[in-house]
Amino acid sequence: MSAALPLDADRLWGDIMALAEITEAERPYTRRSFSPLFQKGRAWLADRFAASGLAARIDPAGNLIGRAEGRAPSLGVIAVGSHSDTVPSGGRFDGIAGVAAGLEIARALRDARLQLDHALEIIDFLAEEPSDFGLSCIGSRGMAGVLEANMLDMTDPRGGTLRDALRRVGGDPDCIAAARRHDIKAFLELHIEQGIVLESLSLDVGIVTSIAGIRRLEIVFEGAADHAGTTPMDLRRDALVAAANTVVAVRHAAERLAAEGPDYFVATVGILNVEPGGANVVPGRCRLVIDVRTTNPALTQKFVAEIDRDSKRHAEEARVSRRALVALSDGPPAACDPTLRTRLRESATELGLRVTDIASGAGHDAAFMSRICPSAMVFVPSRHGRSHVPEEWTDRDQIARGAVVMLQTVKSLDRSLSGDARADEGVR
Ligand code: GLV
Ligand code: MN
Ligand code: MN
Repeated sequence: MSAALPLDADRLWGDIMALAEITEAERPYTRRSFSPLFQKGRAWLADRFAASGLAARIDPAGNLIGRAEGRAPSLGVIAVGSHSDTVPSGGRFDGIAGVAAGLEIARALRDARLQLDHALEIIDFLAEEPSDFGLSCIGSRGMAGVLEANMLDMTDPRGGTLRDALRRVGGDPDCIAAARRHDIKAFLELHIEQGIVLESLSLDVGIVTSIAGIRRLEIVFEGAADHAGTTPMDLRRDALVAAANTVVAVRHAAERLAAEGPDYFVATVGILNVEPGGANVVPGRCRLVIDVRTTNPALTQKFVAEIDRDSKRHAEEARVSRRALVALSDGPPAACDPTLRTRLRESATELGLRVTDIASGAGHDAAFMSRICPSAMVFVPSRHGRSHVPEEWTDRDQIARGAVVMLQTVKSLDRSLSGDARADEGVR
């Protein structure tokens, strides 16, 4: 790609680094959704939106949106975005690169005095990462019209409801239906790959074909918390023993399903709460959360049936009780729009970039957006494939290349979608 970029790579990089400064000092890089730091990051972003000539607002689902009006309001919106929240001790790029790229695209268009026919919206979706309420992609679910009332009633470990938390970040749970959008004609998301494929093949960008479906399951084991020194082994009801055996069962079942191929399948126990958590107390209660991902939902059904059976057996063996498996969330796999994928590929090829198709094992807001409008994604390389860790890294120029692909595609979509709309009017 030529040295003269149609956007400012340093300005884009500067935004990513500035947002990285807004982190829990002891636990970089942490900006958990709904936390005061998350709100601080968003205030910073809203200022950047305003300074870039974008009208900033928060929609009822708590998404922060910056908007540049188009020349033909009836044409609707081209939207670009991702998320600014992080996992605990996460990275500086996951989600943030996509929001910053959107902002830079808006600035580059303004610098070039180029107003699109469509309105352009830059979206920072609320809580893409699993939140303290056990739910992820809260904002994009809302925008897709699938943030249900029972989800708003979900509680965090302190007993607060998502409904109240949404209000605190400027959303409006009483008008959640109004978050559902009908006017977005195309959605594009730039994201770091979070895997090793692009780097290992020395490629510049990946055009995402599909996004794995994610189900999160909660299992709770209840035993008896007793004195660790005085309770004989044969009289214990140790909840952690049942949970630990279940963790191993998850691993074995997932390995087997992944090996069956050709579908992608992974499962992880990333949360294990042990209570009361004393070195000299037999664990009385254990809660674990399983994250299951696949391109084939039939495999999830098989997996769940197997874990249901195994965890019940492990509970019986440890003489503890097990609550029925609860699905905290469930999203099917999502295909990216073929026309948008072609456009992204054309832009990348015209720029002389090395490009490939790639499937996403990570979840993304684009999966929910694809329910309401054509949606597609561009991946940029992740150093050593690392992500959800502080070492997460993508070079300045790698992000800039992905952002230019997005910018060129936004411009070409604006032209082609305007043409389509005019042709439709001519037909009518
Ligand atoms: C999002 O980061 C996910 O894939 O869990
Ligand atoms: Mn993530
Ligand atoms: Mn992400």
